[in-house]
Amino acid sequence: MISFVQALLFTTATGAALRPRQANNGCCFQLASVGMVNETVLEDHVGDLLLGGTFQQGGFCLDKTTKTIQDSLRHNCFMRAPDYQFECYQGAVGTTAFDIAPPKADGKSYLTYDDSPGVFYACPIDSESYDIYSSDKADKTGCVSVALALVDETAACSATTSNSTLSIRSKPLHRIPLPTRPLRRQSSRQSCTIDASAPSLAPYQLHHNNSSVSSGSNDTSAEVVISRNYSTVFDYDIPDTFPPANTAGESSLCALQFRMPVCTTLPKGYPCYSFSGLEQEVLSNSGMTFHLVDDDGNATWNSTELHQVFPGENTTIGTFECGQAAGYGESRKMSWHVSSVRDFSLEFLQAGVGQSAQFQNGVGAWIVPCQ
Ligand SMILES: *[C@@H]1O[C@H](CO)[C@@H](O)[C@H](O)[C@H]1NC(C)=O
Ligand SMILES: *[C@@H]1O[C@H](CO)[C@@H](O)[C@H](O)[C@H]1NC(C)=O
Ligand SMILES: *[C@@H]1O[C@H](CO)[C@@H](O)[C@H](O)[C@H]1NC(C)=O
Ligand SMILES: *[C@@H]1O[C@H](CO)[C@@H](O)[C@H](O)[C@H]1NC(C)=O
Ligand SMILES: *[C@@H]1O[C@H](CO)[C@@H](O)[C@H](O)[C@H]1NC(C)=O
Ligand SMILES: *[C@@H]1O[C@H](CO)[C@@H](O)[C@H](O)[C@H]1NC(C)=O
Ligand SMILES: *[C@@H]1O[C@H](CO)[C@@H](O)[C@H](O)[C@H]1NC(C)=O
Ligand SMILES: *[C@@H]1O[C@H](CO)[C@@H](O)[C@H](O)[C@H]1NC(C)=O
Ligand SMILES: *[C@@H]1O[C@H](CO)[C@@H](O)[C@H](O)[C@H]1NC(C)=O
Repeated sequence: MISFVQALLFTTATGAALRPRQANNGCCFQLASVGMVNETVLEDHVGDLLLGGTFQQGGFCLDKTTKTIQDSLRHNCFMRAPDYQFECYQGAVGTTAFDIAPPKADGKSYLTYDDSPGVFYACPIDSESYDIYSSDKADKTGCVSVALALVDETAACSATTSNSTLSIRSKPLHRIPLPTRPLRRQSSRQSCTIDASAPSLAPYQLHHNNSSVSSGSNDTSAEVVISRNYSTVFDYDIPDTFPPANTAGESSLCALQFRMPVCTTLPKGYPCYSFSGLEQEVLSNSGMTFHLVDDDGNATWNSTELHQVFPGENTTIGTFECGQAAGYGESRKMSWHVSSVRDFSLEFLQAGVGQSAQFQNGVGAWIVPCQ
């Protein structure tokens, strides 16, 4: 329920955004999206935050101790289950832990949340406006990734920004208990919930789809290079015992899942990946295509769909029916040719490749059963 005063405030205020000033002259700012959608963050009458449209520009203050944000009416802002929309409500409390990443090369500071790099999703409402969601939103069909830059921020915002960005995951949070993040992700076609402990199948070999790179016909290297000039083919050999019986895999769906843990959480000795970066990915709408080049099972697959991956996230690339097709051998072969789109670049060591892989868990693409 919105109060009359609240509605009045929003409908009569014009010009500059309402901006709460904290007694201690805290960190206050407005927000603007950067990426495929460049719009100011507005707030409607019920506390939903929007990009584009005719509502009042939102004004926010961050409490760095509790990592909470309030809007100009001092309502708490959050992105919470089940829809993970960015909104601010009177009396409501969310568990989203917000922070500010120090200025990037473009000179702007960016809003981050829950120790992740700060990727938000702008999902169209109509031809001119978008709702904003966290990366936990299950179905991101039609949405575009954006970053939220601070605009007109007070000096207090830059005063004590910590060494955050990609390394903040190792830093303990103050007071705010992290919600148990559901691992639900959805492909554009069928939904797939992947249990963190689900059995995973790594590629048995990789090869570079480029004669000038390939070091031999049976290259067992685990090194993956996806960039403008280099692409990599991932070969899987799925035994008929996969997924094993009595595991979480209740449905007949399997998924190709891409995992990109933040480097600080990788096992000792595991090389950090080299990545064109969050800014390049969001600004250029860059990413990868996973072209299904080989499948004994004739899976339906969109080989031209753009996939974006971000540090700290597991991304479901697509789903297909598990199992073997009649008339084939004991194992099913599937191969994907992964290429860069719009100068995206990512070099990493795929975990689990080969009989004696040094690392079983880490970065890369796995076949997993859906729950
Ligand atoms: C949004 O702004 C950034 C720079 O601030 C620019 O690189 C990008 O092309 C803009 N995107 C659109 C869709 O205009
Ligand atoms: C990170 O923090 C350390 C010590 O806390 C400091 O010496 C260093 O300059 C900081 N780096 C940046 C980029 O702020
Ligand atoms: C990604 O998947 C791995 C393996 O299942 C799991 O350990 C990890 O917690 C997941 N990470 C996220 C952010 O969901
Ligand atoms: C590279 O991949 C493309 C598309 O998947 C395929 O048509 C081509 O034959 C491959 N080239 C080599 C050298 O493997
Ligand atoms: C490559 O490996 C396959 C199967 O592992 C084998 O049949 C083939 O002979 C090998 N080719 C070369 C050139 O070693
Ligand atoms: C990639 O290819 C482009 C032309 O297609 C070339 O200009 C560039 O130098 C190449 N980059 C590398 C790193 O090989
Ligand atoms: C292979 O690499 C060369 C340069 O290293 C590049 O010009 C060419 O486009 C690449 N081919 C493919 C299929 O990736
Ligand atoms: C595949 O994905 C592309 C890009 O998202 C989309 O334009 C196209 O309609 C999709 N094709 C199918 C058959 O779903
Ligand atoms: C896959 O499709 C091809 C051509 O449509 C067909 O000949 C083949 O039998 C199919 N294989 C399976 C396992 O369904």
